[in-house]
Amino acid sequence: MSIQTIMVIGAGQMGSGIAQVCATAGYDVILNDQKQEFFDRGLANITKNLSRDVEKGRKTEEEKAAILSRLQQSLSIDDAKNADIVIEAAVENMEIKQSIFRQLDSIAPAHTILATNTSSLPITELAAVTNRPEKVIGMHFMNPVPVMKLVEVIRGLATTDEVYEAVRDLSVKLEKTPVEVNDFPGFVANRILLPMINEAIYTVYEGVASIEDVDTVMKLGMNHPMGPLTLADFIGLDTCLAIMEILHEGLGDSKYRPCPLLRKYVAAGWVGKKSGRGFYVYE
Ligand code: CAA
Ligand code: NAD
Repeated sequence: MSIQTIMVIGAGQMGSGIAQVCATAGYDVILNDQKQEFFDRGLANITKNLSRDVEKGRKTEEEKAAILSRLQQSLSIDDAKNADIVIEAAVENMEIKQSIFRQLDSIAPAHTILATNTSSLPITELAAVTNRPEKVIGMHFMNPVPVMKLVEVIRGLATTDEVYEAVRDLSVKLEKTPVEVNDFPGFVANRILLPMINEAIYTVYEGVASIEDVDTVMKLGMNHPMGPLTLADFIGLDTCLAIMEILHEGLGDSKYRPCPLLRKYVAAGWVGKKSGRGFYVYE
């Protein structure tokens, strides 16, 4: 399976990062979002990261220009007709993702692999809405994508070895370390990380300690690079809530119930860094 052109659906914090590492590795990238302003925001993020690399002497201006020249703007899902693999990184919502996968299945050539960067949704359920479940797979990058080395590669029930190997090899070419994971709610990363974040929110909700102090405990006490509430804001509280709902529903254990305070913040639109306010306020 030869991959030259990669389409990324969603130019948000994950999609823009995925597009950046793919273009940096020499692939032609079609970066798709629904509106020009969303694409522009993603491109601005990529340009900022590459400019920092130039300032720090890690890349030349010519390399930066070459990477940007491999990025093509897309506002139509029809551009999937030119892709060898599509990596979907739209919002964490099963109905939206299924709708995207149905469309991709009807537009993309027969050889095209349909991958998703979902944090927690079942790959097999997404695959089931297509006529190519053997070519559907999870490719779960970590945030921030240019920095974090891990990719969880998740096979759906029908995913073939050939498709798994192609995605594993692609991850290595992107200078990531792939780990094979079975299709269970939250996979490995978020099954372990999100209950910790949810518990941190409970400690604030129950008045055990302040937001800042909970973060300080985990940063200085456990050497975590970010406290759990800072990390929740960084991931996006809407995404955190969606993942907890999937764990709760999919594993059926009350230990995964989302904290009411998390629900309240999301209902208020305080979804973290990307909205300017979450547990902290951002300028
Ligand atoms: N994009 C690109 N590069 C970034 C970046 C971003 N958003 N944020 C930071 N960096 C780079 C910086 O440029 C810097 O590199 P250089 O100094 O070499 O230029 C390097 O990362 C370190 O950054 P800082 O010195 O500014 O800050 P830091 O030392 O605190 O590191 C961090 C930032 C790497 C994000 C670190 O705080 C960290 O590792 N945080 C935890 C991240 C984490 O847990 N991610 C997983 C989230 S869960 C997930 O992704 C799965 C899911 O489905 C929800
Ligand atoms: P985000 O809100 O930053 O970006 C989502 C983008 O998708 C937005 O730009 C939005 O306009 C676009 N979009 C929505 N519907 C679309 C459609 N039908 N077609 C094209 N574009 C569409 O979200 P994010 O944090 O980048 O998360 C994206 C996905 O990655 C989610 O599934 C999330 O669970 C997963 N993920 C997130 C993180 C994280 O830390 N935030 C980490 C790993 C995986």
